[in-house]
Amino acid sequence: MLDIAVLGAGRIGRIHAGNIAAHAGVRLVGVAETDASAAAQLAALHGTRTLDVADAMRADAVLIASPTPTHADYIEQAAAAGRAVFCEKPIDLSAARVRTCLATAQRAGIVLMVGFNRRFDPHFAAVKQRLDAGEIGALELLTIINRDPSPPPLSYVANSGGLFRDMMIHDLDMARFLLDEEPVEVTAAASCLVDPAIGAAGDVDTALVTLRTASGRLCQISNSRRATYGYDQRIEAHGAGGLLRAGNVFPTTVDIANASGFRSDPVLPFFLERYAAAYRAELDAFVKAARGEAPARPNGEDGLRALLLADAAVEAARSGRTVQPAEA
Ligand SMILES: NC(=O)c1ccc[n+]([C@@H]2O[C@H](COP(=O)([O-])OP(=O)(O)OC[C@H]3O[C@@H](n4cnc5c(N)ncnc54)[C@H](O)[C@@H]3O)[C@@H](O)[C@H]2O)c1
Repeated sequence: MLDIAVLGAGRIGRIHAGNIAAHAGVRLVGVAETDASAAAQLAALHGTRTLDVADAMRADAVLIASPTPTHADYIEQAAAAGRAVFCEKPIDLSAARVRTCLATAQRAGIVLMVGFNRRFDPHFAAVKQRLDAGEIGALELLTIINRDPSPPPLSYVANSGGLFRDMMIHDLDMARFLLDEEPVEVTAAASCLVDPAIGAAGDVDTALVTLRTASGRLCQISNSRRATYGYDQRIEAHGAGGLLRAGNVFPTTVDIANASGFRSDPVLPFFLERYAAAYRAELDAFVKAARGEAPARPNGEDGLRALLLADAAVEAARSGRTVQPAEA
């Protein structure tokens, strides 16, 4: 039995806690939270206890789902205790801090997995498998579309690290995963078109990034904090021998047809629904890694490399120049 403690009982902590509770061979030993009532509610839901952080660090493994600024410290505490760690993305908003944290984790020799859940989405994972199987030959152009249904609350925007490091970081990881080659150039354009308050808070809500790898493969990422038809999550990989495409996922396959044409359901509303299967599969991968049955991927280095690409995108958008990402 693998005991896992969850740190943070917010939107994503609740999902992970539910998946841990439902996973065979794994026990949710408790929930550590600064908000006592959120902790008590989640613990009660799964028949487990509330913990302080020191108790949580005594579990076999910890799942860090607290706000981003807490991640690196918690990873280091878990490293000192020799615990396996699953940490939500991003590890930190500062690449320098990520590097010191990863060095500590590496010295301690702990398992560290980072929550780039989209690698585990069955549709995107199938694109990866079929690319690797050579079904479209050499990959040449990759298009990743990621649009939220509506902007997050301004309080979230203010502490998120901005669209590139908070939202696009998923797409930058997906680009690395599918391109199978590190991007060496980043070009970006960004605007505030959805909500002027986001601009006033110093962030953008609409962005395009182009990545180029050393062999010349190109990837374009399209992000918006608005999509009127639901959570828009699509990928298209174009290669020498054809195209692989993963479209949006709908609650049902039922269409209605009438004099106005055909109409399907709106796409699944947001990440909790769209990536429910991915969150279960990534937990399963973490459990295997924590038991020493498989390497942890995506790992700390994947977390750092995605952040370095986000940093390059921020600089590219600011300067209007093509930027080379820093070495990992
Ligand atoms: N992979 C994904 O799909 C995904 C989706 C959402 C969020 N995230 C990431 O997960 C993290 C949490 O995001 P969220 O949307 O769940 O936030 P949230 O604000 O909904 O929840 C965070 C919770 O952590 C608690 N908390 C605050 N400080 C704490 C501390 N020191 N120790 C323990 N708990 C603490 C808060 O009280 C809150 O309940 C962020 O890093 C975010 O980037 C990832």
